[in-house]
Amino acid sequence: MNVAFLDLKRQYSSIKEELDQAVFSVLSHAKFIMGPEVKAFEDKVAEYCGTKFAIGVASGTDALLLSLRACGVGPGDEVITTGFSFFATAGVITRLGAVPVYVDIDPDTYNMAPEQIEKKITAKTKAIMPVHLYGQCADMDPITAIAKKHNLKVVEDAAQAIGSKYKEKKAGSLSDFGCFSFFPSKNLGAAGDGGMVVTNDPKMADMIRMLRIHGAKPKYYHSIVGYNSRLDTIQAAILSVKLRYLDGWTEKRREHAEVYNKAFKGLNVITPKEEESNYHIYHQYTIAVKNRERLREVLKENQIGHDVYYPVPLHLQECYKFLGYKEGDLPVTETKAKEIISIPIYPELTAEEQNFVIETIKRAVL
Ligand SMILES: Cc1ncc(COP(=O)(O)O)c(C=O)c1O
Repeated sequence: MNVAFLDLKRQYSSIKEELDQAVFSVLSHAKFIMGPEVKAFEDKVAEYCGTKFAIGVASGTDALLLSLRACGVGPGDEVITTGFSFFATAGVITRLGAVPVYVDIDPDTYNMAPEQIEKKITAKTKAIMPVHLYGQCADMDPITAIAKKHNLKVVEDAAQAIGSKYKEKKAGSLSDFGCFSFFPSKNLGAAGDGGMVVTNDPKMADMIRMLRIHGAKPKYYHSIVGYNSRLDTIQAAILSVKLRYLDGWTEKRREHAEVYNKAFKGLNVITPKEEESNYHIYHQYTIAVKNRERLREVLKENQIGHDVYYPVPLHLQECYKFLGYKEGDLPVTETKAKEIISIPIYPELTAEEQNFVIETIKRAVL
């Protein structure tokens, strides 16, 4: 048996007619840039997240970049974030000339540990950027309380977490800005790149709208320099269709997670911990094992897809040597980076396939 890590072709065949129709409709009206489907999708995402505004942009990376710009982050500023994330989280900070300041993670959730934040705040700190890793929200109440106390902005990197909840509120709606990615492999994935910023602040929403079209308002009048970062009409049309299925797909992911959790109980496998205040959407089902390289070999031999998110923490990336971090600075992050491995969790995974994954892992960790 060959078990794919993710098989997007299955998703496509399950809703093929609706998706084909959505794409053909855009091809026929030919409003490829900022067509009506963009606004329609933005409205749906705002409603889904419980925010006043949603602004489509070209990628999750740009959602973060534009949000930080709207916060006024620029050269010399500091942004506090986690070292345990995809590169974009840090990349956007340095692209603005600012400095990422990393804090360690909570060992159970892999998310930023709020108690580590305050000691990293300096006169240069402008914002805090928590990441809702693998689809589970960071502990946002203490984070937003610290931000309020020190007059800082909070930008949620919710790239992996659309639909996830913290104390019944949706990811993205928990702070000043929520940033989503529609990279194809995300739970809500486009047929290419796409992203979204959600916010409740009308001024900030306006700023993001300006920034995505070269800073223009009105057209051809530029009071600031922005970017070319719009969500394609075709992508918006596709995403609108898929949004209708998102909660059902999330339920499937949660069922698969439950099956894995039960199967790995009592074994040398640390399964994901879903905090009581959270609703995890399992963008990834990530386990931690002591001998990860052996497990990787066994999975490979058995043709079971898997991946490591992420093998090198951000503070130890070569391009960030100039920041002066060294091994041992974020001990929990560094230990977890050596132990974690993600296994198939996509909604269309069959019971037979999941069972094969479970039995293979059980043999490997004995
Ligand atoms: C945590 C995190 N932040 C940011 C991004 C960037 O999103 P995109 O690939 O859409 O630019 C991603 C996904 O790729 C991500 O997983």
